[in-house]
Amino acid sequence: MKSLVRKHLQSLSPYRSARDEFEGEADVYLDANENPHEFEFNRYPDPYQRELKKKLGSIKGIEPSRLFFGNGSDEIIDLLVRTFCEPGQDAILTIVPGFSMYDVSAQVNQIQNDEFQLNEQFEFEVEDLLTTLKANHKIVFLCSPNNPTGNSIPMESIQKICDAAKGLVVVDEAYVDFSEAGSCIHKIQNKNLVVLQTFSKSYGSAGIRLGVGIMDPEIIAILNVVKLPYNVSEITQQHALALLDKYSKVQESIELIKQERERLRLALEQISVVDTVHPSDANFFLVKFVKARLVYEYLMSHGVVVRDRSKVVLCQCCLRITVGLPAENDRLIALLKEYTP
Ligand SMILES: Cc1ncc(COP(=O)(O)O)c(C=O)c1O
Repeated sequence: MKSLVRKHLQSLSPYRSARDEFEGEADVYLDANENPHEFEFNRYPDPYQRELKKKLGSIKGIEPSRLFFGNGSDEIIDLLVRTFCEPGQDAILTIVPGFSMYDVSAQVNQIQNDEFQLNEQFEFEVEDLLTTLKANHKIVFLCSPNNPTGNSIPMESIQKICDAAKGLVVVDEAYVDFSEAGSCIHKIQNKNLVVLQTFSKSYGSAGIRLGVGIMDPEIIAILNVVKLPYNVSEITQQHALALLDKYSKVQESIELIKQERERLRLALEQISVVDTVHPSDANFFLVKFVKARLVYEYLMSHGVVVRDRSKVVLCQCCLRITVGLPAENDRLIALLKEYTP
């Protein structure tokens, strides 16, 4: 794994923060120039989020040593690109239409992004993708369920890509808790697999910024060298720990969203201005309208914000609509029924 890392990082030793050198509870902390007076968050957080890794690991059946946290999964995406891809030399392979952050990170880091286009059904032949793999593709980004199309990638395809790729295969599972397909964490064993999940979607905690990476500990050791020491705040860690104590509430809300997804799908399909509701494994729908931009502006003028994806390749005339609360979905449905083009 180390041989994949950018040359100048291979010999770099990690920054040792004050809290790195000491584990456990001390009586007196005079090591980090903090203010010792009674403030709620006067101490630096655990740079390796050990308690949180233990708790999430036990819920998900994952060894804590295979967990890495970031300031949102956005941070982990950028860290992976920065750590593994040599600017002006290496490349990433992404699927379009897909989540735009992979391209943003590639551009910011001067990395070539080779795009592989899905077919009209938002699917692909894995053998076709494999023929586009090149030696300098340090990372293949897959997103399952995919944003903005909503469909999942078959597990066998992910397996074949992991087997064939010389570099990392990142499977972004931001929406996996809403899918029937389930996670590849326990199904694919390859060392080059990196799975990303997030507290922003199914965990109802987008505001705390907590992304989860599940990967080989060797990759984590490298990311720990590159990451900022305190990338996950104490407030975030505490919030996440408290949330995991009531994990059943998260699961209940996922079930409610899935039920509401079905109700919304059926209602949208009945509406005359709706052309197609693409099937979704996620908590949103990609919906094709005759004139998407006009519908978007109409909804906006009535206080309902959806995402205009009509300029995205293969998504002409499409809006992406998140499954909201029942009353919010009712309002959306009522507005669309009233809409006259
Ligand atoms: C597929 C996908 N991955 C990652 C993210 C970012 O997640 P986070 O909030 O953890 O940075 C999003 C956010 O919309 C997403 O759609």
